Amino acid sequence: MHAASIALPARHRAQLTLSDVSLMRGATQVLTSVDLTVTPASRTAIVGENGRGKSSLLHVLAGTLAPDSGTVHRVGTLGIAEQEMSADDDRTVGQAIADAIAQPIAALAALDLAGAALAEGGPGADDRYAAALESAEALDAWDAERRVLIALEALDAETDQTRRLAELSVGQRYRVRLACLLGADLDFLLLDEPTNHLDRSGLDFLTEQLRSRKGGVVIVSHDRALLADVAETIVDLDPTPDGLPRVYGNGFDGYREGRLAERERWEQTYERQQLEHARLQDSLSAAQNRLVTGWRPEKGANKHGRATRAAGLTQSVHRRQEALEAHAVTVPVPPQRFRFPELQARAGAELLTAVGVSVAGRLAERVSVALSREGRLAITGPNGAGKSTLLSLLAGKLPPDSGVVRVQPGTRVGVLSQESSLPAERRAAELFEAHLGQLEASGMLAASETVGLSHLGLLRSREAGKRVGELSMGQQRRLDLAMVLASRPHVLLLDEPTNHLSIALVDELTEALGATQAAVLLSTHDRQLLRDTEQWPQLRLEGPGDLDRDLGPAPMSVADARMIR
Ligand SMILES: Nc1ncnc2c1ncn2[C@@H]1O[C@H](COP(=O)(O)OP(=O)(O)OP(=O)(O)O)[C@@H](O)[C@H]1O
Ligand SMILES: [Mg+2]
Repeated sequence: MHAASIALPARHRAQLTLSDVSLMRGATQVLTSVDLTVTPASRTAIVGENGRGKSSLLHVLAGTLAPDSGTVHRVGTLGIAEQEMSADDDRTVGQAIADAIAQPIAALAALDLAGAALAEGGPGADDRYAAALESAEALDAWDAERRVLIALEALDAETDQTRRLAELSVGQRYRVRLACLLGADLDFLLLDEPTNHLDRSGLDFLTEQLRSRKGGVVIVSHDRALLADVAETIVDLDPTPDGLPRVYGNGFDGYREGRLAERERWEQTYERQQLEHARLQDSLSAAQNRLVTGWRPEKGANKHGRATRAAGLTQSVHRRQEALEAHAVTVPVPPQRFRFPELQARAGAELLTAVGVSVAGRLAERVSVALSREGRLAITGPNGAGKSTLLSLLAGKLPPDSGVVRVQPGTRVGVLSQESSLPAERRAAELFEAHLGQLEASGMLAASETVGLSHLGLLRSREAGKRVGELSMGQQRRLDLAMVLASRPHVLLLDEPTNHLSIALVDELTEALGATQAAVLLSTHDRQLLRDTEQWPQLRLEGPGDLDRDLGPAPMSVADARMIR
């Protein structure tokens, strides 16, 4: 490759600028007059309720989605980690790495060629060599592969370069892709919910990389710990009186405070507007009354005088009517409020127990767990330790290789899986109703126990009418949660419940989980959620450690977490 065709980072000249950008998706106006500048010094986060347009905004910045109006300017190189990952990526891990560092590889190849030409001493060889060297230096090309390998290692990602991405789990694929991006030395990194698939050490590595990198960062995240550690500027897409997004400085705290103040101002303005509206309304009514009484012929009044007065009164009514119509009242959009249904405690010592369960290659330890009424348990552990496998065992979705799982008859177990997998073509409300119908038909739930979708405050009716494929990732996950809660479970098994959900909903969910009478088992990496549930008993799965998962039998360590209240 000729040195000139290699895309070099623009470094301090790099910039992403959006001016007056607006965008519709389907029938929804998602972005309205967004102005945003991202520089290599930016640590910008985009937040907002699920479905507000955070992913859409990231795609507009990246150039993968064209806005309906407004302008986008890009100077420099960028990489985006999308919220969704396609499962049909034919590449191997090695090919993904080669693609991520294609520019440095090309720069080194060009340098080799230029070096050979220099040795032959052809005309212009000096200049070409100097140019090739400059490109390779600009890309720090010699170090590129090492940077990706370090990131793969630190994120505990697959390092076997012959493995195909399609054969990896979503989490493993995600980590390979993130490592490639972190190692690629781009001017800008655009990351959509990057923490969903990372464990504690992966999160620490990501945080450190984002804080120390020289290029700009734009993250979309619900992860309150990451936002607090990394974000300096926060773009909030939630509704405002003027319909424009708000930009807050001073990090996550600045955003929390600023947002609260903004909301209070809006509510105060609304109160003033309502008072003014009432005054104008009264004034109009009074004028209308005067007009009516003015028309009534008074005894002895002369006809001509009455007519003149009537014209003045009519004008006065019109003036007041216009004033009332011109007086705008912006009603603060009420935030969606999550209503956790009342879940009944179920009598009985142990509702759900697993004794010495393990699955070859997936859950190495033999684990025993007992959940009784109102029991709580948080499962932690590194990626690959078998947390999701344990939940699948408890949910009866997977048979154990050793041990047994017992459920007390009649106990309803609700399971929220790590990733949403609802059929894209079906409408949300339709799926929800079908789910309730099944529960009733199977005798698991009485008709009197069902909860309506609108009651839960997870999806607005507009969204409930959409097909799953038209919902944002968080909205799909809200539907998953709604279906789990509608089954009125006695035991809740939640696998990474905060993934994709908005900050406000995570706060509400955390509070509800603390208070519910149902037994709750939670598997999570969310550092804030772990802090908020630190009084819960914890079971840490260590995983196979250094043992290769294909070698030898599982280690025989026994973890026993018993929580009976
Ligand atoms: N393919 C699509 N077709 C039609 N509408 C879509 C499509 N994808 C998204 N939308 C709609 O556009 C809006 C914004 O979606 P977007 O994915 O940008 O939201 P988000 O803020 O990233 O949400 P989340 O927090 O759930 O990830 C949503 O209301 C969604 O329903
Ligand atoms: Mg999104």
